[in-house]
Amino acid sequence: MHPPALAPLDVAILGPGMITQLQILPSIYQLQRQGLVKRIAVCGTRPATMRALAEDPRLLNGFPGQSFELFPDYRKGGSAAAPEAYREALKSLAPRQCVVVALPDQMHEPVIRELLEAGQHVITVKPFVLTHKEGVELEELAREKGLFVGIEYHKRFDDRGLMARRRYRAGEFGELKCGQAHLIEKYYYMHSNFQNWCTCENSDAFTYIGCHYVDLVAFITGLKPVEVSVHSRPQPWPNGKLGYLWTDARVIWDNGATLNVVNGFGYPDEGPGGNTQGMVLHTEGPGAAGLIWHSDQFRGVKHAILAKGGDPGDTAFMEPNPDYFQLLDRGGPGLEPAGYGYRSIEALVKAVARIEAASAGLDAGAALRRRRELLAEIDAAGILATPRNSSYNELVIEAGRLSVTHGARPVRIEYAPEPRVRFKESRDYGA
Ligand SMILES: NC(=O)c1ccc[n+]([C@@H]2O[C@H](COP(=O)([O-])OP(=O)(O)OC[C@H]3O[C@@H](n4cnc5c(N)ncnc54)[C@H](O)[C@@H]3O)[C@@H](O)[C@H]2O)c1
Repeated sequence: MHPPALAPLDVAILGPGMITQLQILPSIYQLQRQGLVKRIAVCGTRPATMRALAEDPRLLNGFPGQSFELFPDYRKGGSAAAPEAYREALKSLAPRQCVVVALPDQMHEPVIRELLEAGQHVITVKPFVLTHKEGVELEELAREKGLFVGIEYHKRFDDRGLMARRRYRAGEFGELKCGQAHLIEKYYYMHSNFQNWCTCENSDAFTYIGCHYVDLVAFITGLKPVEVSVHSRPQPWPNGKLGYLWTDARVIWDNGATLNVVNGFGYPDEGPGGNTQGMVLHTEGPGAAGLIWHSDQFRGVKHAILAKGGDPGDTAFMEPNPDYFQLLDRGGPGLEPAGYGYRSIEALVKAVARIEAASAGLDAGAALRRRRELLAEIDAAGILATPRNSSYNELVIEAGRLSVTHGARPVRIEYAPEPRVRFKESRDYGA
C-alpha cells in the first residue's frame, strides 16, 4: 500500500484570534515543516492583534525561522482597523489552495461563500454556519466547483471519542438512553473580544461551544437530533452588550434518548484547567446497562509551578490536558505540536492536499469529476466533518437559537420532506 499522494498548498488563515494563536497557526507551521504547506498568510483587522500573534514568544520559540505574511502588516505603521485586508491576501493566492476560517461565528457564512466563489478550498472552525439553509447552499456551491469544505470539530480526533464510536457502532454499548455534557469556559472570557461578538443577536454559549458535544454524540452513536430546547437569561458582558452567557440545553435524539448540555463563561479563573468539560452517556441493551464516561478536562495530570504565568486564567496549580494541544521538545528544531487539536488540522489539510494531488495533471473536466469523487468519499467516510455529513449540527444550532430567543420553547427538527426546524406544537406531545 502506498500512502496517498499529497500536493503542497499555500494556506491563508482568516482571523488572528485566540484559536489561531493556540491551535491553528502552530499546526500549520508544523505542516510547513513537513513540506505540506508552502506560504502562510494570516489576515486580521487590527494591526495590534497581528503584532501580538507575530511576536508571540510561544510561537517564536516553538517554530524558529518560520513566519507568516501579515494582512494588515503592523510593521508598515498605522493602527486603523482593516476589515478588508483578507481580500488582499486572497488576491495573491492561486486557485484551489487552502483557506482556514477562524472568524467570529456570524461571519463564517458570507466569508466562506466568498472563498468558494473565488475557487478556494475551505477549512472552518465550528460552528460552520448558523442556519441549515446556508449550509446546504454552501455545500452545493462547493460540490459544483469540486472544492472541499471541512469543519474543525477536533473532538472527533480525540482517541477516546474514536474508541467509543467503534464500540458503539459494533453494538457493544447497546443504545444511548440519557446523557449529560458540560463545557464551561473560564470567567476571564468575560473581558475578551467575545463581548464584541458573542452577543444575543449573534450567538450564545450553546451555539459557541455546546455544538462540540452534540457533534460528538452524533459522531459516536450515529443518532440524529430531533428536538432542542435551550434556556438562558440574557445578562450583560462588561461592555454592556447582552449575551446568553449561561445556557442549559436539552437535545432529544431520534431514538428518544436525551442529552443535557450545560455551557457558560464562568469556570473560575483559579480553576486548574483551561475550562471544565466532560460527558456521561448512559446506554442500555438486552439485559444490561452500559456507560461512556469522559473526563475531558482532568486527564490524570497535575502540575504545580512556582509562580503562575501572566495570561488571564493562568494558575500555579493546574491540570493540563496532555491530549488536546501541546508543544513538545522531540529533539527539535523548535517544538512539535501534539494532540487531537493538531491531528484534526493535519487531517483536514491532508484531505485538501490529497484532492489536489489526485486531480493534478488531468484536464479541467476530468479533474473536476475526480475532485467530486473524492469529496463524496470523504462525506461517506464520516470522520472529517463536512457540510453534508454533519448538517444536523446546523439544524441543532438553528433550533437552539430559535429556542433560546423564545424563552426555551422546544423546537422540533424535521428531516423530511425537507430539513427544517419549527416550534413544537401540541400535536407533537405524546408522539
Ligand atoms: N473549540 C473550538 O473549536 C473553538 C475554540 C475557540 C474558538 N472557536 C471558533 O473560532 C472562531 C474565532 O474564535 P476566537 O476564539 O479565535 O475569537 P477571537 O475573538 O479571539 O478572534 C476572532 C478574530 O477575528 C478577527 N476578525 C474579525 N473580522 C475580521 C476580518 N474582516 N478579517 C480578518 N479578521 C477578522 C478579529 O479581529 C479577531 O482577532 C469562532 O467561530 C469560534 O466559535 C472554536
